Amino acid sequence: MRVGQGGDGPGPHTPDGSAVELYELAPVTGEDELINAAIEPASRILELGCGTGRITRPLLALGHHVVAVDESAEMVARVPGTETIRSTIGDLRLDRRFDLVLMMSFLVNVADEAERLRLLRTCAHHVRPGGTVLLQQQLPGMLHAPTVREKGNRRFVVSDVEQRPGNIQAATLTHTVDGRTWSQRILTQNLTEEQLASQLTQVGLTLADYLTPDRTWVRARTA
Ligand SMILES: C[S@@+](CC[C@H](N)C(=O)[O-])C[C@H]1O[C@@H](n2cnc3c(N)ncnc32)[C@H](O)[C@@H]1O
Repeated sequence: MRVGQGGDGPGPHTPDGSAVELYELAPVTGEDELINAAIEPASRILELGCGTGRITRPLLALGHHVVAVDESAEMVARVPGTETIRSTIGDLRLDRRFDLVLMMSFLVNVADEAERLRLLRTCAHHVRPGGTVLLQQQLPGMLHAPTVREKGNRRFVVSDVEQRPGNIQAATLTHTVDGRTWSQRILTQNLTEEQLASQLTQVGLTLADYLTPDRTWVRARTA
């Protein structure tokens, strides 16, 4: 497990505390359509931190070509029907370039600036000139306790939120699905637009715009 992160509950967990069986049950909530609308048909996509392929599957079904990367062997083993690579994002160096490099799930909010730069360097290395990097970022106010959301057989709770200097938060996320419960302690850092733009510049990318009015989905391009 990484510092400040951990997970409990049935089945295997990744080093960032994500539960493999929970992600296998997680629904798609429109992310695929948002991504599809931002790219050309039959795009070559590098998906970083793919998990069980929750988003890989619909992107493949939409006709894109996806190479799916995750550091967890248990996660990539569940990604069907496409090339998968088991690697940390920071260490990945393929001799190929992609139309889209996708890094969602708030991975850019890792609370360690050097690690964030390593992730962004990997994004920059693998995007073709003129291509797109899409990031899903966490925003201030997203993590507050108590948060309880219930829908059908699912319950989601945010608890034990701890604010630390430098816009860093620790929090516990607890998911219950059909009576099975997983919890994950996360450590994240919210970024100002200036911080994110500056780090993108350091790796040779430019913050272009946002796909959503709330600025969660960030589009960057080669500088
Ligand atoms: C919260 S899960 C989300 C998975 C998927 N993106 C989704 O939306 O369903 C985050 C995934 O990113 C992977 N991950 C986190 N940090 C990583 C890193 N530095 N290198 C490779 N994989 C990483 C974890 O193993 C986990 O599978």
